[in-house]
Amino acid sequence: MKVFVASAWPYVNAVPHLGTMIGSVLSADVFARYARLKYGKENVLFVSGSDEHGTPIEVEARKKGVDPKVLTDAAHEYVRRYFLEVWEISYDNYTRTESEVHKDFVRKFLLDMSNYIFVQEEEVPYCEYDKLFLPDRFVAGTCPYCGFPDARGDQCDNCGRLLTPRLLINPRCVFCGRTPVFKVTKHWFFDLSKLQHMLREWLESSKEMPQHVKAVAFSWLEEGLKPRSLTRDNKWGIPAPFEGSQDKTVYVWFEALLGYISATIEYFKNIGQEERWKEFWFGDVRSFYFIGKDNIPFHAIIFPAMLMATGKGYVNPTVVAATEYLLYEGQKFSKSRRIGVWIDEAKEIMDIEYWRFALIRQRPEERDTNFTWKETLRIVNTELNDDIGNYVNRVLSMINRYFDGVVPGINETLLKEADRNYMRLISEAPRKMGELFEQNKLKAGTEELLKLAREGNAYLNQREPWALAKINKEEAGNVLTVGVNSVRAIAIMLYPLMPRHAEKLYNMLGLSNVEGERWDEAGEMRLNKGHRIGKVEPLFRKIELTPEELEGKLKEVRHKVEKERPELLR
Ligand code: MF3
Ligand code: ZN
Repeated sequence: MKVFVASAWPYVNAVPHLGTMIGSVLSADVFARYARLKYGKENVLFVSGSDEHGTPIEVEARKKGVDPKVLTDAAHEYVRRYFLEVWEISYDNYTRTESEVHKDFVRKFLLDMSNYIFVQEEEVPYCEYDKLFLPDRFVAGTCPYCGFPDARGDQCDNCGRLLTPRLLINPRCVFCGRTPVFKVTKHWFFDLSKLQHMLREWLESSKEMPQHVKAVAFSWLEEGLKPRSLTRDNKWGIPAPFEGSQDKTVYVWFEALLGYISATIEYFKNIGQEERWKEFWFGDVRSFYFIGKDNIPFHAIIFPAMLMATGKGYVNPTVVAATEYLLYEGQKFSKSRRIGVWIDEAKEIMDIEYWRFALIRQRPEERDTNFTWKETLRIVNTELNDDIGNYVNRVLSMINRYFDGVVPGINETLLKEADRNYMRLISEAPRKMGELFEQNKLKAGTEELLKLAREGNAYLNQREPWALAKINKEEAGNVLTVGVNSVRAIAIMLYPLMPRHAEKLYNMLGLSNVEGERWDEAGEMRLNKGHRIGKVEPLFRKIELTPEELEGKLKEVRHKVEKERPELLR
């Protein structure tokens, strides 16, 4: 079995913030790192890239008088470097929608969908000042139903009704505010309605798809799927491949989604094994897509529909791992109002692996969740430092103190019920954590890791190996041997979240290469009599700052960080 892992492709005209990280990028990385241990590195592929076409970038480039590609080149490199080098996102391929492989693939793929494509004329608003068609959300106006003054050409965000540009009262161009004219133009449409039935059957039979994702998809099906236009009159984008479509480009969503496949093709091309991409798209494959909830319809309806339309047997998503929204101290993240924390600012505030752990612990899995500095401090100081850090330190220090750094080993005949109970917990925890991870419950999964450490502390308090060491050294040896094996399990379970710290802990155990371990063996008693542990050091450090001080630190670095961003990201 192959496991395909992907995160939504972020638009390249904004620096990703913590909401993006927890919604897609970081969540996917934690899962991919888990999956490599669970299923074997060679059976897992993790990809994403920059989503770089579309109207806003075209308009921005026109304003600046430069080629959009010049802007996206710099922005893509900047974001890519932060993901790969700073946030330790372990993409096998982080590419971009301007990649030649992607552009070629998209054009071929859309031609494969031809049974479901038709051409029709359409009236689209056009701004004569910006010399631009204004499809979708690029025309604004007053909603004819509720009077909301900022309704868009596709929908009113106030009353939720679907609109067409013609329905807007006092329509205006979102870029310059002027009144558009309406022009008739020809477009290529994807006839989703013809796939309605197949989509429903697939969704009904997909056992692993999360319920809340299915609910969104079914409500779309309930309303009835309508044809959607595949082409746009933009210049910046992938030229549409149809006969007579020379002056059109492909609508961003209909090409970005195909990036999942083209990034796989590109990865195998780069390693000189061109045919192997098919292993991840046909046959025995499970695929996991980490996305924010606003992306659900695209991943649970549009993308599967595109795959089906080719009739080639591409595998549909297994799990669309959608999150709810992350709020920043009670508010929406906002670039213009500077509300939030951005990925390039975060590393100036604390160790990125602390961020990784703290974000997963605040992952919005059931409902919208508030990121707060206070909770972040609690997670670092109590969960990481006290629960995990102190526990592993207690076990390892006592092995040094009472057994000169050598694992004493188990004497079966002296095992007590408490020892057996904790051993059972060690052997079950990795499996439970993995099962939760595969159900898009990363936060819940990490509970198993914390539980193992907390129960470990309780186990030590109950068994008191320091007291046993004086009266029954062998029994103390049993407790610390169980303990040191729990520390090994903890290191492996920590790896997807904090790879560097997991390796550091592994070194303290006198082991190396935690990345080469197998998840299914994490709960086994592998450290036995005679194994020498390594040098013991504190694993974590407390952050001795108040929430206000942390926020102050952010304000201090913000100015400097913003100046170093490439033009498109300022
Ligand atoms: N760029 C889109 C967003 O940020 C996501 C695109 S996901 C893709 O909402 F798969 F289509 F690439
Ligand atoms: Zn305009």
